[in-house]
Amino acid sequence: MISPVRVLFLSFLCYVATGGRTCPKPEAIPFATVVPLKPSYEAGEEIRYTCQPGYYSTRGDMRRFICPITGMWPANSLKCVPRVCPFAGILENGIVRYTTFEYPNSISFSCKTGYYLNGTNTAKCSEDGKWTPGLPVCAPVTCAPPPVPMFAKLSVYKPSAGNNSVYQDTAVFQCLPHYAMFGNDTVNCTAHGNWTKLPECKEVKCPFPSRPDNGFVNYPAKQALHYQDKATYGCHNNYVLDGPAVVECNKFGNWSAQPTCKASCSIPVKKATVLYKGERVKLQDKFKNGMLHGEKVSFFCKNKEKKCSYTEEAQCIDGTFEVPKCFKEHSSLAFWKTDAWDVKPCEN
Ligand SMILES: *[C@@H]1O[C@H](CO)[C@@H](O)[C@H](O)[C@H]1NC(C)=O
Ligand SMILES: *[C@@H]1O[C@H](CO)[C@@H](O)[C@H](O)[C@H]1NC(C)=O
Ligand SMILES: *[C@@H]1O[C@H](CO)[C@@H](O)[C@H](O)[C@H]1NC(C)=O
Ligand SMILES: *[C@@H]1O[C@H](CO)[C@@H](O)[C@H](O)[C@H]1NC(C)=O
Ligand SMILES: *[C@@H]1O[C@H](CO)[C@@H](O)[C@H](O)[C@H]1NC(C)=O
Ligand SMILES: *[C@@H]1O[C@H](CO)[C@@H](O)[C@H](O)[C@H]1NC(C)=O
Repeated sequence: MISPVRVLFLSFLCYVATGGRTCPKPEAIPFATVVPLKPSYEAGEEIRYTCQPGYYSTRGDMRRFICPITGMWPANSLKCVPRVCPFAGILENGIVRYTTFEYPNSISFSCKTGYYLNGTNTAKCSEDGKWTPGLPVCAPVTCAPPPVPMFAKLSVYKPSAGNNSVYQDTAVFQCLPHYAMFGNDTVNCTAHGNWTKLPECKEVKCPFPSRPDNGFVNYPAKQALHYQDKATYGCHNNYVLDGPAVVECNKFGNWSAQPTCKASCSIPVKKATVLYKGERVKLQDKFKNGMLHGEKVSFFCKNKEKKCSYTEEAQCIDGTFEVPKCFKEHSSLAFWKTDAWDVKPCEN
């Protein structure tokens, strides 16, 4: 059993022996560590502050302190600040995303279209103030020479990077004669380093054209007719060609047109003045050899009530010419009658 008096006495002895006071747990400094770290220290005990890895102080990275008899740590002016990595804000042909270049931040990189990142897309500012891994570069994407499709040849091709092409360079293909191109003749070097879709060249044959009724067709004397071969059409007398005189074998294996020969028309009235291409002509004189397919004239007709004239159109269509019903042909004996073409025009 220890008496309270004795406890008091022992405590007093202890107080004298230790010089009286203990130092408290030391003040925490941002980004610094204290060694050793304890809740309290005896007078004479030493502590060391050091900046944590990645941080430094401009006036030496370490501070030593000894716990004084007063039990109060001396003032500590240590300031640990992050290390700063070298400026990395610019990436040629690319973009850098960053907040600061300080430890322990990371920055990230991307390249413009047509460039690829040679390196990693992020780098971290390390404890020793260096970017890890090292900074990347944006290198141009290149396309190897384009493959040449079957039955084709390159008509325009200029490699711009040694033997290769860079993004958006183009090459142009041409099919060999008689081969037709399907797809675009121009290919582009893409940002993936390949070319856009290559065209295809296919052999195309057209059937021999058949002779039109009342006409003829000429074409090359060959085993087969191919893409871009031509045939020429013509008609016998009194027939006209409906369609172009020259047709071409197209890439779908068809002729560009199939012209036919259309008959001329004979004129079924003896005497009439008509409008032909805006001019008054005597039908029986102008078309005494007949009217060719497709030609048009306008007949004059009478409006009896209003005593005026109007016109109606008639066309020769493959041998058929219909005179407008409103047109009245007078007998040459009916001299007292006025022809419609001599009557004043109606006002709409
Ligand atoms: C990437 O860059 C390194 C040097 O930084 C270089 O040696 C290498 O050839 C490059 N790679 C390509 C594919 O360009
Ligand atoms: C281009 O290709 C030729 C033959 O394939 C080769 O000898 C030459 O070294 C190449 N040039 C470059 C710049 O790659
Ligand atoms: C092909 O390249 C040209 C530039 O040379 C560009 O203007 C065009 O948009 C490209 N076309 C395609 C389909 O990528
Ligand atoms: C072919 O591609 C080029 C670009 O690559 C484009 O400018 C052109 O319009 C294309 N032609 C056709 C017929 O699609
Ligand atoms: C080019 O490469 C990209 C990516 O690999 C692919 O998606 C695309 O289909 C390719 N284009 C052609 C025309 O081969
Ligand atoms: C070409 O021929 C096909 C049948 O072979 C036909 O369907 C198509 O309309 C023709 N095209 C032309 C432009 O004549």
